Amino acid sequence: MTELIVALDVGSLKEAEEVLQKLKGVVSFYKVGLRLFTAEGKKAVELVQRYGGQVFLDLKFMDIPRTVVDVVMEAGKMGVYSASLYVWGGTRMLEAASLVVQRPRLWGVTVLTSLDEEDLGYFHVRDIKNLVRDLAHMGQNFLEGYVCSGQELSIFQNGFKQKPCLVVPGIRPAGFPAEDQRRVITPGEAARMGADFVVMGRPILASAEPAKIAQGVLDEIKKER
Ligand code: C5P
Repeated sequence: MTELIVALDVGSLKEAEEVLQKLKGVVSFYKVGLRLFTAEGKKAVELVQRYGGQVFLDLKFMDIPRTVVDVVMEAGKMGVYSASLYVWGGTRMLEAASLVVQRPRLWGVTVLTSLDEEDLGYFHVRDIKNLVRDLAHMGQNFLEGYVCSGQELSIFQNGFKQKPCLVVPGIRPAGFPAEDQRRVITPGEAARMGADFVVMGRPILASAEPAKIAQGVLDEIKKER
């Protein structure tokens, strides 16, 4: 069953709490990302947990193995459900992170969807999809899942010892504007293509009735599985 993660892309605890109040009883998973965590720190995680929500801590860790081990331990102490880290940090960093005893599920970021062939041309990379595939294979012994776009879901369909957990942002129900997202897919398409989690922010946060939009996404997902 595909789950919905609502991205709490707001700048204060007050705004985050307004969203949590409106979505209580409908949504169980929330993403605390760089903005809210930079503004409010650990209190943002505690707020979601007070509302009974599970937290995806999307801070995209990447550093030397010792430092990443320390932050993964801190994330473990906070009791978050999952945390993201860059696969680019290398196998030693990934392995060290995976060996932390009390830790969240680790979800890897391969290539940001904002990078294009021109950026990657500086490194003589011609095919982004191949790079994503190589990075995903590199992380497979150490990570529980990957954050990937709808376009990349097919990469994970074979060649992996175990199908990783797939977390897909860039989700728009039919009729919603894509905004700055370039390659959007609907919640139903994501579910059909094997997404375990869909991440959605603005269509829910900007709505006058966020619970209604979230429920619509959940209903659309349910139809697929
Ligand atoms: O508002 P929207 O639904 O576009 O938000 C999507 C969320 O997913 C944002 O928090 C964004 O940072 C995140 N994200 C993304 N594309 C990626 C990785 C993460 O949109 N490739």
